[in-house]
Amino acid sequence: MQELPDPRELLARTFGAGGEVALVAAPGRVNLIGEHIDYHGLAVLPMAIARRVRVAFRRRDDTTIRAASAGYGRREFAWTADPAAAAPGDWENYLRAAARVVSMLRGPESLRGVDAAVVSDVPPAAGLSSSSALLVAFMLALLRANGLHATFEELMDVLPEGEQFVGTRGGGMDHAASLASRAGCASLIGFAPLSVRPIPVPEDWGFLAAHSLETAEKSGGAREEYNRRRQAGAAALARLGFASYRAAVAGQPEECAQSLAPGPERDSFLHVTSEALRVEQAVDAMLRRDAAAFGRLLLESHASLRDRLKVSSPALDRLVEAAMESGATGARLTGAGFGGCAVVFCPKPDLAAVRRGLIERFYRARPAFDEDRHLIEAEPGPGACRGLP
Ligand code: GLA
Repeated sequence: MQELPDPRELLARTFGAGGEVALVAAPGRVNLIGEHIDYHGLAVLPMAIARRVRVAFRRRDDTTIRAASAGYGRREFAWTADPAAAAPGDWENYLRAAARVVSMLRGPESLRGVDAAVVSDVPPAAGLSSSSALLVAFMLALLRANGLHATFEELMDVLPEGEQFVGTRGGGMDHAASLASRAGCASLIGFAPLSVRPIPVPEDWGFLAAHSLETAEKSGGAREEYNRRRQAGAAALARLGFASYRAAVAGQPEECAQSLAPGPERDSFLHVTSEALRVEQAVDAMLRRDAAAFGRLLLESHASLRDRLKVSSPALDRLVEAAMESGATGARLTGAGFGGCAVVFCPKPDLAAVRRGLIERFYRARPAFDEDRHLIEAEPGPGACRGLP
């Protein structure tokens, strides 16, 4: 893996040297299981990965925010409490979203802008939360530049609002994983009330994040598809008269679903309720170190995402198959789907063989493949709240 460049150099090159420069970082995440259920208030099991967005910044004396990224160019805007969005798909929207959430946290006090430089080795549009990591890292930079502190709970109250600014009505999984993960652990993240329970990942369990080579731009068509899944799930719940998905899971979801007409609402309801149970079982399997059971649950999750929620793609399905043919214990699409990555699970000593098998079976015929970006070992790393450098 290539060393992530130092953003302080980019800062000096772009905006000049000098001043007091500080650094923050926030990692991407891979979701092990619990897909498309966080926004229904159900628990999920992601882990932060050792790939991150790093921001070097220097406080300014006015309200201007200037930022440079090696890959995406330079942006500048005035920090107002209620900023308008930039052009759809522009990375400036994440900077604006960060400014907006800090304003929401601290009200109309006069806040100072920054000059900042951003570098990242989280592959973009891969379902590994590169954009949430950017939002979290930039928000932390703005807080720090203004000498402000906020608790994890306070941050989690406003961060999903930041994503909505960008257009996705997502849940809180990505931000919670990026902020609160503990090295060596997956995080069982519960909502309403918010909770994070570290679940130690057995040392001999290995994970790969394998890219389908189809991108899942959050700002593009995937956004409408994503929001539609959320609406279908919510509509099913309302039609069945449950107060929450938690209540639905505690009832007899399979039987209840029979009273819904066949179609997206029923399929969403069945996916969401069955996935919630799989998360519970996966946590048990991890605690018992039962790799076979954990792997089976990953495959069941993929099947449900493919057949019920219909968020997979032929490339992701083939990737999961190729992983299993290469000796993996389990695999599934991870993140929102519609392209992006699969998470592949196997015993650590088998990682190299599974990697070789994937290259042979899936990537060999695809010239866009770049191993450093598209087939990465996902090791459970620390979140931004845990002193990430
Ligand atoms: C995206 C969202 C998350 C979650 C996943 C699907 O990554 O940002 O909140 O809903 O999709 O599980």
